[in-house]
Amino acid sequence: MRKPKVGRMFLATCVGSLFMVILYFQNITRPAAEQSGGKGIAPGKTRRSPLQTLYNGDQVTSFRMAPFYHALNLDLSAVQTSLRGRRELLEEACLTHTKKRRVLTPDDLRHLIVDDKHGLLYCYVPKVACTNWKRVFMVLTGDGRYHEPLAIPANEAHVAGNLRTLSEYSTSEINRRLRSYLKFIFVREPFERLVSAYRNKFTRSYNTAFHKRYGTKIIRRHRPQPQPDALERGNDVSFQEFVYYLVDPRTQREEPFNEHWERIHSLCHPCLVHYDVVGKYETLEQDSRSVLRLAGADGEVRFPTSGKSTRTNGDMAAQFFQNISPFYQKKLYNLYRMDFLLFNYSNPEYLKTR
Ligand SMILES: *[C@@H]1O[C@H](CO)[C@@H](O)[C@H](O)[C@H]1NC(C)=O
Repeated sequence: MRKPKVGRMFLATCVGSLFMVILYFQNITRPAAEQSGGKGIAPGKTRRSPLQTLYNGDQVTSFRMAPFYHALNLDLSAVQTSLRGRRELLEEACLTHTKKRRVLTPDDLRHLIVDDKHGLLYCYVPKVACTNWKRVFMVLTGDGRYHEPLAIPANEAHVAGNLRTLSEYSTSEINRRLRSYLKFIFVREPFERLVSAYRNKFTRSYNTAFHKRYGTKIIRRHRPQPQPDALERGNDVSFQEFVYYLVDPRTQREEPFNEHWERIHSLCHPCLVHYDVVGKYETLEQDSRSVLRLAGADGEVRFPTSGKSTRTNGDMAAQFFQNISPFYQKKLYNLYRMDFLLFNYSNPEYLKTR
């Protein structure tokens, strides 16, 4: 059967636009102010952009912000040195561990949230405080509609359309923002993030959507002789079964991982989008403060500090890995290897991969 010509042309157009090339190269990511030696701030511009503050911050910034850092016992230059260290390590790791360079497509940018008012781009990663960062973005972009991040219900923060993502813009609008906005990401130790995702999605009775969508499939494929009730409800997936599901080649052949366990590398493309700040969950409060201060938004909103006591940590991850054989530990490590390497996380001590 042959498709009519018009239909095929339409298809070709769609495919063509899918491969729309974004003219975004490494050499244009450095802020213009850096190239102009700090003197050429455009006339009429009263505020320094977050990028200017980050990259040639010294005099003006430290003068303006020194009192805050003193109050926190933080040395501005120490904070900036640490952020620069992470950025450089990421750049190095990208050069070492990624082979081919490719160009970004709008689809790669679905996780980048835009704040035009403060010139910010944030790539959200589930299980790395992304609900709170989305709440903060709703305050920042909400034109006074919101004031207190924690007053925004979590489900409202996740409604698609409440915040704008970079993928919604035209190519030139995307490029302009990638060049001139402060781009940041928050990352977390990969296995702690994974265990956190497992606990949240598979051990909580209210997460029926995940049980139905993923749990039933995991049990069908990875549990010998499952009970009919478990097959039907998918609500008692073990961590071991979850790991089998992740490393099974069929899983990713059929569809991309769910964003809660997809690798940060695949969600945020850190080797293509040159993030200016790599924040870490392990130093969440300090790094969040730094970002808001760089954006000049620390007077408008405070990053919520959660008093949660059930946070997944290294000890908890170690417990979950006890039941995983060295063979599967190794497979799982290989799956998440890039996230370990790019963000300078060392192999966990509990891992038995030798
Ligand atoms: C990378 O990790 C090591 C060990 O945890 C640490 O000592 C070092 O400072 C980190 N490097 C950067 C650039 O963050």
